[in-house]
Amino acid sequence: MRFTNGTLFWNLIILLLFLLHLRPTNALRDTCPIGCQCDEDTQKVTCEGQQVVTLPDRLPSGYEQLLIRNSSVRTIEKNSFRKMEKLTQIEFENNPNLGTIEKLAFKGLKKIRLIKFTACPGLTELQKNSFSGIQNQMGLKIIFERTPIHRIDGHTFRHAQNIRELTISGEELALSRHCFANINQLDFLTVSGVVLIEPEIFTNSTRFHVVHFKNSQFDIPPNTFSSLSHTSHLLIEHTKIPSIAPDAFSGLTTIQVIELHACQLGTISARAFANVENLGELKILRNTIGDLDTSESIMSRALKTRVEENTLECNCGMKWMTSVEEMSDINFCSTTASFRSIRSFVKAKCSHISKQVSRKSNHLPSTSGVSSTFSNVVLFSFILSRVFDDFRIFL
Ligand SMILES: *[C@@H]1O[C@H](CO)[C@@H](O)[C@H](O)[C@H]1NC(C)=O
Ligand SMILES: *[C@@H]1O[C@H](CO)[C@@H](O)[C@H](O)[C@H]1NC(C)=O
Repeated sequence: MRFTNGTLFWNLIILLLFLLHLRPTNALRDTCPIGCQCDEDTQKVTCEGQQVVTLPDRLPSGYEQLLIRNSSVRTIEKNSFRKMEKLTQIEFENNPNLGTIEKLAFKGLKKIRLIKFTACPGLTELQKNSFSGIQNQMGLKIIFERTPIHRIDGHTFRHAQNIRELTISGEELALSRHCFANINQLDFLTVSGVVLIEPEIFTNSTRFHVVHFKNSQFDIPPNTFSSLSHTSHLLIEHTKIPSIAPDAFSGLTTIQVIELHACQLGTISARAFANVENLGELKILRNTIGDLDTSESIMSRALKTRVEENTLECNCGMKWMTSVEEMSDINFCSTTASFRSIRSFVKAKCSHISKQVSRKSNHLPSTSGVSSTFSNVVLFSFILSRVFDDFRIFL
């Protein structure tokens, strides 16, 4: 290039300097928050280290993910993310001082898809309304891992909507009355480490799809699940349940499966499952069961009942089971009766059952017309389930 005019040359230089100057000015408005790194490739802002004591109050434009790691942040304040409405993902990892999530902390995060806490040992209580007001438009996952939640207060998730997944692995976790109340749609709820379930934890929350408790220890009070009228699966596994109250499962309607799997069950009250309407399948599999010497304990109107591979303390009160198809062949006595099948136990030990006076003799099908009707209901549901299966195969 050849410049005929010196003025033009200097004009071009000035223009060039001006253009160069523009970029830093823009970047200044969009600077990465102090104490954070902004990764252009992943569109992720990471704020890391003990010197980070507060959350950033805004992010450069275009960044949609925020990770707070190894920080000294103590509190997620009300409305913390009000200037970050584009955020899709917030993760808190390894924050030992984090102890409080204030009410409406995540308010207005319309684009959010994931809120995750990992290894935040000081976060032991979730407070009322802390997850309210989010207004997410897409399915949102809220996950707590290696974070020892001890208590979830009532109305913690009040008016939360469109929750794809809520996973809470707590420690000695008490679920307060109304803790999962007023949630408008939750697809997968998974809770572990529970030691107490207060009554009415699900009030006004109908649209939960799968409810899963594991690695816990709790009694199931009456009507615990009574609001969950749209739940398709309720699964409780690897949990110690000293007692299941009568009507514990009442109120569940149109549920496909209730399953107790690999639990240590104490007493299952008579009629624990009796008032579940439209139950597809009741599965009681691979549990150890203290007391099941009345057929009413598993009595339900389920289309199909599977009671299999459970270990029981055998006694002659279980004679009723030999009249329910193969149930007494596929459930077993504990060590005290050397793991034999219930049918073989009954055959060997209970030939004089009719003369035996049992503490619970009024529940025994063999001595009570009412209970034998119940055992017929169980039998009937077996036959129905076969028909139902055949029908499905036919379809
Ligand atoms: C974060 O903290 C953990 C455990 O305290 C440590 O192992 C890790 O190196 C820390 N990471 C950074 C980037 O400081
Ligand atoms: C359940 O919903 C009703 C009607 O909206 C409301 O009056 C009641 O207070 C709610 N119950 C709870 C425990 O929030």
